[in-house]
Amino acid sequence: MTSSETGPGTLEAHDVPPPDPELLETSLGHLDDGDWLAGTLKPLGARHAGWGVTPPMYDAVAECLIAAMTELGGDAWTEEMTDAWVQALTAVAGLMLTGAAEVEVEAAS
Ligand code: HEM
Repeated sequence: MTSSETGPGTLEAHDVPPPDPELLETSLGHLDDGDWLAGTLKPLGARHAGWGVTPPMYDAVAECLIAAMTELGGDAWTEEMTDAWVQALTAVAGLMLTGAAEVEVEAAS
């Protein structure tokens, strides 16, 4: 991939429903491993900031992802699953946004 192929207009990396299942699944397997989560998700958030991704976009993506899973899950989808995914995505987005903010602080100093 070249730099001209990246940016907010090109979302190939999220083109599979749900977005980035492998990374999310890997993250879920490391929920008790704060070092792994921070070491992986903060740099990922910093890269996203470089592509122009802003904090409100994380809420929009989480909302769409959960809406898609709710629709696909049908009768098997429960409120508890929604709550668990909101918590997981909030945690992932929080670490990514921390990484994004750290890059901004470095760039400003
Ligand atoms: C749960 C939150 C998110 C996760 C786990 C996630 C994960 C990823 C991953 C693993 C990549 C592949 C590139 C890399 O590893 O450096 C990627 C790329 C990308 N993501 Fe996300 N992402 C998230 C949220 C968002 C949001 C909110 C946006 C903006 C709407 C976004 C936009 C992009 C863009 C533009 C790329 C580069 C795509 C390309 O050029 O092919 N992501 N993301």
